[in-house]
Amino acid sequence: MNIIVTGSAGFIGSSLVDKLLLQGHFVLGIDNFDTYYDRTTKEKNISGHIKNPNYKFLEADLLNPEKIKPHLKKDFQIIIHLAAKAGVRPSLENPALYQRVNVEGTQNVINLAAEFNIKKIIFAGSSSVYGINPNLPWKESDINLMPISPYASSKIAAEWIGKTLCNMSDFDFISLRFFTVFGPRQRPDLAINSFFRKISAGEPITVFGDGSTIRDYTYIDDIVDGIIGVIVNYNQKGYNVFNFGSNHPIKLLDMIKAVEETVGIKAKINYTTMQKGDAPKTFSDSSKAREAFGFQPKISFKEGIKRYYDWLK
Ligand SMILES: NC(=O)c1ccc[n+]([C@@H]2O[C@H](COP(=O)([O-])OP(=O)(O)OC[C@H]3O[C@@H](n4cnc5c(N)ncnc54)[C@H](O)[C@@H]3O)[C@@H](O)[C@H]2O)c1
Repeated sequence: MNIIVTGSAGFIGSSLVDKLLLQGHFVLGIDNFDTYYDRTTKEKNISGHIKNPNYKFLEADLLNPEKIKPHLKKDFQIIIHLAAKAGVRPSLENPALYQRVNVEGTQNVINLAAEFNIKKIIFAGSSSVYGINPNLPWKESDINLMPISPYASSKIAAEWIGKTLCNMSDFDFISLRFFTVFGPRQRPDLAINSFFRKISAGEPITVFGDGSTIRDYTYIDDIVDGIIGVIVNYNQKGYNVFNFGSNHPIKLLDMIKAVEETVGIKAKINYTTMQKGDAPKTFSDSSKAREAFGFQPKISFKEGIKRYYDWLK
């Protein structure tokens, strides 16, 4: 297949491209090396791709679609739209920018899909759309979304413009709501990455709240396999949304304990108040994705942590 991946230099995008290339697909990767974190990390992420004859990389901003159009002459079948301003906390400081990149950027992707007749879009949704909804584990059928950050609301808005597209025409838009993804290449702002680095270096870590928050951590390979599962095994038309979580939430203090045990160093912890925008609990019911295309996370949290540390070293 010929597949476009936006956000292809990022954590999830580059891991997905690894696998798509292994499977023999042609991939056009689009990324603007957004400054949310450092460019060198992203260049390293794609260093294994760029010599592959089945890969073409385009450094371009989704907010400037005219630059992208000349590269879409090939017959593409799918767009996997992962590019976004990621991160909950910074979205509170610059909500307008998050809306622009995540909403207008998604609208631009949809416009490109329409102009170049690319009928299927797979979108990186987020568990953050459920926010403070207390009905755990979260199911897609629960429409009581209770977002608590501009990032989360930008993801809801993007889903709805995808849904609108499908109501208006015969496009397919599938939103995959990822639950805290971890593993090799994880974004530097995410807790597991920063805790590993700090605890290994003997530096103190900051815990927001009392450590009782819970997260449904999902290993990167399971996310990538899930996306491939959508490509291969899911043929329903129109709009749909699926949770992509491990279904095994972990308490923050247990996550820290796992990092301590893996590194062999006790963490020095500074406790401070909960940060605005952070959901106290995330917990996925991923049975809908399992039934629709066999999504089945295989890597336990402990195994994922071990693999991540091996990579980090
Ligand atoms: N990592 C997680 O735990 C998680 C959880 C839920 C949802 N998501 C979503 O999954 C997707 C990928 O997340 P990630 O963790 O790999 O983040 P990431 O920041 O590593 O990857 C996103 C990529 O998008 C690129 N990008 C940003 N703005 C762009 C623009 N205007 N034009 C082109 N490229 C642009 C960035 O340069 C980056 O390489 C995002 O949409 C994110 O919101 C991630």
